[in-house]
Amino acid sequence: MSIAAGAFESRLPPGSAALFAEFGAQAEAPPNGDPTIGSFHAAAQESYATNQGFRNLINRYVSLETVDNASYQANKVFKAAHSLYMPFKVRTATGYPYGYDELTWMHDITANLSDARSPQSIEMRANLRRPLQTSRDKRAIVLSFLAGALSQEREFEGGLTVHDYGSSSNHVLKSLALRHPNYAKIVDAQGHYDKSATRIFNMFSGFYKSGRGLMRGYGIEAQPPTNNPRAQNWLKSCSLDPSQLDPPREQVAGVKEFNDEDTYELLTEARPPQVHTIRGNFLNLSPEHHHKLASNKADLAFFSHVLSQNAPHISTISKNTMPLLKRRGMIVVNEYAEVPPDNPQTLNILDDWYASKWLCQTFVLSKASPELGFLPIIRWESSHCEVGQIVEENISHIAPDLAA
Ligand SMILES: C[S@@+](CC[C@H](N)C(=O)[O-])C[C@H]1O[C@@H](n2cnc3c(N)ncnc32)[C@H](O)[C@@H]1O
Repeated sequence: MSIAAGAFESRLPPGSAALFAEFGAQAEAPPNGDPTIGSFHAAAQESYATNQGFRNLINRYVSLETVDNASYQANKVFKAAHSLYMPFKVRTATGYPYGYDELTWMHDITANLSDARSPQSIEMRANLRRPLQTSRDKRAIVLSFLAGALSQEREFEGGLTVHDYGSSSNHVLKSLALRHPNYAKIVDAQGHYDKSATRIFNMFSGFYKSGRGLMRGYGIEAQPPTNNPRAQNWLKSCSLDPSQLDPPREQVAGVKEFNDEDTYELLTEARPPQVHTIRGNFLNLSPEHHHKLASNKADLAFFSHVLSQNAPHISTISKNTMPLLKRRGMIVVNEYAEVPPDNPQTLNILDDWYASKWLCQTFVLSKASPELGFLPIIRWESSHCEVGQIVEENISHIAPDLAA
């Protein structure tokens, strides 16, 4: 931004100063490399400095927010602005997000968010009071790959059982149940497309898909279900980045059968009979819910972008989850994290997760060999799990063909 940011920041309330700085950091390195998110953050920082109405909105949000983490807060402010463009399944600005550079965002912020009584300000404040809650089906590729790789050497009696902790709207489990097509591209250490590894990786997923599939899936989710269209719109806005929104229809006709927005709608509506939801906090499962999981033990227990919200409890969570796994079951974690060298039984969550690519990883912790601790097996270019790198030294435990 053009003004002397340091002097300006020093006069702000502490929480707002951290968020103001975070707008700048995420403008430089937008989450998932999404340019529309980057231009929003640049506009948010400039607008915060120059637009009293927007500054009031942000200061009020910071004073009410219970999560004291500037990167979470900046992410949420973006999602709340993004949600204004996609209410009730139909986006209002037909041009969004194409061409949403910093000036376009600044224009919209001035036009829509300067006045606390405007419908957009009211909607934005309502969304800022909701927790961030994504539901990203593409992460199912991790489970379908692992199931395929493991089924080389073991029979899944009657099919796969998965417990998905922090399952949001169960899109991962529904995607597995419906065998929704999902592929990843594998690249080598230099970032070059590795055709053979990609083929084997997707073949494992294909093997699982042609096998018995998901027998039972339990999503464990703290948030209650909602029929409120505004809350549903918030979930959708949290789950789809601007770069995932489908291009104008005429450009996609006949080219792509599924796009991310269609898939999101399809999975939201779907009710596959083998997918169940347990409503509650998994840190404190009721005896009835514990019994339900214990009598349907999991091959794979998935924690996808949920341990960061439960960071102080990671070792306890893995200890409590082990008895709910089958004998050779595994805990599978997707997270912006690393294994601390002195204690592989836990994970260190990365705070500046957006700062560069390849910080999101898939880790496994195996019930059969817990002494190995969390092993990273795939690095992901972004949390969308579309482009991955195999962690050669660890993948041999799971898929020797890929390590070769
Ligand atoms: C960031 S979202 C990720 C959702 C999904 N796993 C995915 O990868 O798209 C985290 C979800 O975990 C839920 N969650 C967080 N902590 C939880 C807990 N202790 N018990 C149950 N659900 C929890 C939140 O409500 C939210 O829906």
